[in-house]
Amino acid sequence: MKGIILAGGSGSRLYPITKVYSKQLALLYDKPLIYYPLSILMLGGIKEILIISDSDTIPLYKKLFGSGKNLGMKMNYAVQKAPNGIAEAFIIGEKFIGKDDVTLILGDNIFYGYLDFLYKAFESHKYATVFAYRVNDPERYGIIEFDKKNRAISIEEKPTNPKSNYAVPGIYIYDNNVVKISKNLKPSKRGELEITDVNKEYLKQKKLFVQKIGRGIAWLDTGTPHALLQAANFFGVIDERQGLKVGCIEEISCRKGFVDKKQFKKIISDMPKCSYRSYLENVLKEI
Ligand code: TTP
Repeated sequence: MKGIILAGGSGSRLYPITKVYSKQLALLYDKPLIYYPLSILMLGGIKEILIISDSDTIPLYKKLFGSGKNLGMKMNYAVQKAPNGIAEAFIIGEKFIGKDDVTLILGDNIFYGYLDFLYKAFESHKYATVFAYRVNDPERYGIIEFDKKNRAISIEEKPTNPKSNYAVPGIYIYDNNVVKISKNLKPSKRGELEITDVNKEYLKQKKLFVQKIGRGIAWLDTGTPHALLQAANFFGVIDERQGLKVGCIEEISCRKGFVDKKQFKKIISDMPKCSYRSYLENVLKEI
């Protein structure tokens, strides 16, 4: 299984920082936003990652993660010339995906809670798996309609009259067919290759598995300044209360065994003195 993080977009709601770079580099509490989705892929055991973003931001991601070797990973990078839609990720990523299955996560999607259902899905999925999360404002999302037996029967992008409150969050698991499906898509009315159209195709072929996410999981939005502040407060509270960081990729890489103790020490010694480093020094004492 390979992983793609789509980390470009117009980010108009977060202007003016997005005048300079894509929003997934913005600070969310104590680390760049992109650390959070990256950590989800890592926790699920995915080591080969493609980051897709605009041409201004790709050099910055390269500076941030390099080849990924120090984290025991393989990081790849590709440019999306314009925000032509989420499904374009599979066309840009065709070579990277090769013959593998692929999980796509949006670079501004944050999940928190007991996520084992997600990691299991990375391992044992067939065809296509997406998730359904109850939201209060269904008009803003791709919305799934279920029948009485809890089977998905329709998906609509940003419906005016939503058929349910279940939105599809920005993490999608597909077999290799997704490349071909994406290549056959036509841009929507708003000129984008829609991920909802990919899911509709799998649904048509009876190959879309939709898993409802329970109430114990937080799916946080980070699209607006206020949402970003709320998410930062959320992770700040957890850090202060438990002394545990969320989305700390260096810690994950060590605990998952992507790097050994010696490599982990090197990661720490390359950091300036700061609370992030102190935190990792405590992790080192624990392991
Ligand atoms: P959107 O929510 O569609 O848009 P946005 O967040 O870029 O900006 P705006 O404030 O203008 O609504 O994007 C969802 C995520 O996917 C976000 O992380 C950006 C990313 N994305 C791309 O990288 N390329 C694309 O073509 C699109 C449509 C989104």
